[in-house]
Amino acid sequence: MQKKIYLSGIKPTGTPHFGNYLGAIRPTIQASQNRQLDHYYFIADYHAINALHDPNLLRQYVYEVAATWLACGLDPEAVTLYRQRDIPEVFELQWILTCCTAKGLLNRAHAYKAQRDLNLEKGHDADQGINAGLYAYPALMAADILLFQANKVPVGKDQFQHLEMARDIAHAFNTRYKTSLFTLPEPDLEVGLVLPGLDGRKMSKSYGNTIPLFETPKKLRTLINRFVTDSSRPEEPKDPETAPIFHFYREFATEAQTESLRQRLLQGGIGWGDVKAELFSIVDEAMREPRARYAALMENPAQIDAILAKGAEKARPKAQAFLQQVRQAIGLA
Ligand code: ADP
Ligand code: TRP
Repeated sequence: MQKKIYLSGIKPTGTPHFGNYLGAIRPTIQASQNRQLDHYYFIADYHAINALHDPNLLRQYVYEVAATWLACGLDPEAVTLYRQRDIPEVFELQWILTCCTAKGLLNRAHAYKAQRDLNLEKGHDADQGINAGLYAYPALMAADILLFQANKVPVGKDQFQHLEMARDIAHAFNTRYKTSLFTLPEPDLEVGLVLPGLDGRKMSKSYGNTIPLFETPKKLRTLINRFVTDSSRPEEPKDPETAPIFHFYREFATEAQTESLRQRLLQGGIGWGDVKAELFSIVDEAMREPRARYAALMENPAQIDAILAKGAEKARPKAQAFLQQVRQAIGLA
């Protein structure tokens, strides 16, 4: 029996940070160990260009995302790891799907609506500065997913709507052409954690409050020391749940370590400075090996290129065969 397909993509729009790691990278690497499924992981480089317009940075971020996945333990022999650009069938499918996508559906996409609302708030024209790439984004994401007939796609809150749209678009195609060619993808909702950043808001490159994943130990310590805390003194009891730093700690600590810190905070008797020192020590330890692997990969981009090219070689014949079936269904073959 054909295995079910698990597919996940990351946009190379910034240096990976701990929010990306805990919210997206680590869970998908854990998922990749499930051998009951066939896994596709890709770098969504064409998705990046509606926001990122610096060619050198884009090249750099593609390597950073690939090296991050590999350094954190993704096994390119066991999964299919590729760059979106190496599968040009995605872009043909995007156009086909765009012709099955109601414009009203795209009007409702969060990313587009957020920019539109911001314009209206400022008294600007609703669509000022919004490019059609941002608008069409959900159709490209649907093509990424539907081309490989993915059954399961891990999504955080921000991507859930895009996945629903992929289902809607697949359904619209199947209905129009009286076929069941497209598989309706299901969200893998286990991915749900939101890591707070240095200022307590969601860690995000848009807020400038991130801790990059592969900082040197010295820089990591400095950044951890910048985490916001309240002004309570060491002897005062503290609420762990409202402390961003505690949320970070428990993602790396063992259950026993977390419980011990929780008790010490609740009872009073530990200052934030000491909590930060403990946090640094467990995160630094956890990152030691991945950091070394990351540095070695980034020094050897040709090795990354070779791994990605091999992934594309595995993926592309499947994409070509499936796209041919799509062309036949619509009368273009
Ligand atoms: P950013 O917010 O820094 O721009 P992206 O929007 O590019 O990050 O997110 C890439 C992936 O990382 C998405 O799957 C997103 O859900 C996840 N992610 C980003 N920030 C966090 C966070 N603070 N906590 C958990 N997951 C996050
Ligand atoms: N839109 C996703 C993000 O912003 C990245 C992405 C593109 C993706 N295509 C995908 C994720 C297909 C899963 C499946 O993070």
